[in-house]
Amino acid sequence: MSLPDLSAEQKRVFDLIESTKKHVFVTGRAGTGKSTLLNHLSWNTEKQLVISAPTGVAALNVGGQTIHSLFRLPIGVIADSDIEQNGDVRKMLNTIDTLVIDEVSMVNADLMDAIDRSLRKARHKPTVPFGGVQVVLFGDPYQLAPVPGDSDERAYFTDHYRSMWFFDAKVWSEVSLTVVELTEIHRQHDDDFKFMLNAVRHGQVTKEIADALNGAGARTPPSDGTITLATRNDAVNRINAEALKRLPGKVRTANAEVSGDFGGRNYPAEEALELKVGAQVMFLRNDSEQRWVNGSVGVVSKISKAGSIWVEIDGEVHEVDPVSWEKHRYSYSADDKKLTKNVIGEFTQFPLRLAWAVTIHKSQGKTYDQAIVDLGQRVFSAGQTYVALSRLTSLEGLYLTRPLRPADISVDPAVKRFMSRGQ
Ligand SMILES: Nc1ncnc2c1ncn2[C@@H]1O[C@H](COP(=O)(O)OP(=O)(O)O)[C@@H](O)[C@H]1O
Ligand SMILES: [Mg+2]
Repeated sequence: MSLPDLSAEQKRVFDLIESTKKHVFVTGRAGTGKSTLLNHLSWNTEKQLVISAPTGVAALNVGGQTIHSLFRLPIGVIADSDIEQNGDVRKMLNTIDTLVIDEVSMVNADLMDAIDRSLRKARHKPTVPFGGVQVVLFGDPYQLAPVPGDSDERAYFTDHYRSMWFFDAKVWSEVSLTVVELTEIHRQHDDDFKFMLNAVRHGQVTKEIADALNGAGARTPPSDGTITLATRNDAVNRINAEALKRLPGKVRTANAEVSGDFGGRNYPAEEALELKVGAQVMFLRNDSEQRWVNGSVGVVSKISKAGSIWVEIDGEVHEVDPVSWEKHRYSYSADDKKLTKNVIGEFTQFPLRLAWAVTIHKSQGKTYDQAIVDLGQRVFSAGQTYVALSRLTSLEGLYLTRPLRPADISVDPAVKRFMSRGQ
């Protein structure tokens, strides 16, 4: 991988992380080189460091692992439940000096506190925050927030935390977090576009700015497979289905094998996966042989009569096998006060989905020279519009399926509160 040289401000933050044990939150606008600095750190640090991120795609962006797989944490609210640790996880957590998390805006307060407890437990330091590990967080709270869970989970947060954000985790009442902000934007070079993006970030879009963005975005998008960033999954699915239809050749369908209880139709991949040779696809799982990871993009190069699938990634063709996802449920026995984990369902399918369009959520952290932004009927979370628009390197690459409206742009009050602390 070739990395740009660090700027002076990036270098200063590198030195702060390298030469102290402080917990640091490196923030700054989209494109200020947070992930680039993180990558530098992983290549050049003298410390034992692990890199993680809340989602598979974000982890892929910085060569890390998801937080859940690194710590082997269960999905959903963890609250004060016991944290299970096998010997391997414990050993790994004992060898590290520094835990790095990218895209920390998507980490919720409960997960932050679970990370703290897990490190204390593994390192046998029950009273030391993070068990003495240095925690370095990268992200921009003006981008996407943690995904709110179901109503029970939301009620849990309302009762236990000031907000869902990582910065409202309980651990921060025991230990301080040093906030440093990168200010120089590297992704975009045009000052006018940077100014517009900053206005979107802070929810201060004037009519003039909206007109400029809408004017530029109103052109007809090219039909060359330019990626679409959409708010909703159904739009993503529709766009992918249409793109698949436009490809010549025959559709082949791979049907999933489902057994047990998978909680309605809440499947981890398509039940009926439709593909053609030439289809752009994204992987949904890490490969045990490390030929791809969750989030890798490729093109279907061959489908055999028997239904075997080959995908080309970066010029190499690989045969892809179906994988199984297990659905677990914990059961609690009051007698011996033990939680037991049971497999209650299994879903087997190729770990692939069409990838001409992705959700804005999945695009956070990415850079695109051109993209079609589809905000759908409405934007439903703060920061969503800012994430979408700030993926573009220039205004010339922006295509909008409809004009921006004032309601598309909002800032979470908890973010304003945190980011203006001490001012
Ligand atoms: N010091 C630098 N010099 C030149 N380009 C840089 C530098 N830092 C980052 N970039 C480039 O800017 C773009 C955005 O960087 P990235 O690290 O993804 O930003 P962020 O994580 O803050 O959104 C990338 O294309 C990256 O290569
Ligand atoms: Mg980044």
